Amino acid sequence: MQVQNRFVNVKIIILTILSISIITLLYHIWGVNDRPSIWEIKDRLPFHRAKAPTEIPKKIWYKLGSQGLGDKAREWTDTCINKNPNYRVEFVRDQAADAYVVKEYADRPDIVETYMNLSVPILKADLFRYLVLYNEGGIWSDLDVTCEGPPIDEWIPEQYKEAAGMVVGWEYDCGYEPTFIRMFQTWWLMSKPRQPHMMMVIEDILEGVRNKTREHNVAVSELNMDMVENVIKFTGPKRVTDSVLKSLEITMGQPTPWEEISHLEQPKLLGDVLIMPGYAFALGSNGCQKDLDLGPQLVRHHYAGSWKNTKGGERRERRSPRHLGVARSPLGHGSAQDGE
Ligand SMILES: *[C@@H]1O[C@H](CO)[C@@H](O)[C@H](O)[C@H]1NC(C)=O
Ligand SMILES: *[C@@H]1O[C@H](CO)[C@@H](O)[C@H](O)[C@H]1NC(C)=O
Repeated sequence: MQVQNRFVNVKIIILTILSISIITLLYHIWGVNDRPSIWEIKDRLPFHRAKAPTEIPKKIWYKLGSQGLGDKAREWTDTCINKNPNYRVEFVRDQAADAYVVKEYADRPDIVETYMNLSVPILKADLFRYLVLYNEGGIWSDLDVTCEGPPIDEWIPEQYKEAAGMVVGWEYDCGYEPTFIRMFQTWWLMSKPRQPHMMMVIEDILEGVRNKTREHNVAVSELNMDMVENVIKFTGPKRVTDSVLKSLEITMGQPTPWEEISHLEQPKLLGDVLIMPGYAFALGSNGCQKDLDLGPQLVRHHYAGSWKNTKGGERRERRSPRHLGVARSPLGHGSAQDGE
């Protein structure tokens, strides 16, 4: 009787210790103290769980249109691929892009629904680049971009390598009036994954889509180029510029005066965003003074984009001729050609 009692006592003690340990463990895992539970965090910021890596991932993303990789695009992309053998390269086709968004953004049904329902190719292509960079990081390049100068690993000054969460470049900066509306070009973007600035771009595009569909009383799938009016503002360079600067203002607690980030002659770190001077990614649309001691041109844009027609790009189902030589014109300030 005595022996049995003692045995029961030992069992109870062991069970009690085990329970306490499990509860303590769960308490720590779930962070059940004064912080919100992971479920609340998940609802608000679904993609902020993973820790950002210390460098921008060595991966170049390209999106293929319905016509695949043409000879010219192969030539252009090869310049970057051959110069940077330590970079992984992904060419993503439409269907793979769709499948990617559906899978990776499953806990943001608003993003998946908007993305999947967009029927204008350029809007979808723009949104896809931000979604992939937010989720994986790396480099986004359009197919009509060539790499010039040194390998990518040498582009970011050593002292900024860890701090630079995002690398953007001015499209129109040197040679332009201080009052000229400046924009980051979007044919070449570099980012660590989970950059809040990139999520701001995505959220603002979703809001823009909601606004437009409400204004015209249409479904997302019925949104067309006439309703969108200005792709540059809606999903392009102006959208990225406004959203990134807005997000930086929130994280830094104050807006940045334009004088601090315009007429750049060297890369400028603003918070965790490295702004490259006009000559780096967009020499052709900048009028930089030749006598200044500037750094090298890093990429060149060849303006072969096929989005500038009434349908906003190549339709998947039909083959259409490429529209060569048309530049994205900056908000009606006239167009610029990369023909230096
Ligand atoms: C398109 O939008 C509708 C209505 O918002 C939604 O029910 C549907 O799931 C969306 N389609 C896709 C493929 O996400
Ligand atoms: C959407 O509409 C609201 C209200 O008019 C406006 O404040 C907001 O800036 C718009 N957002 C975008 C991204 O167009």
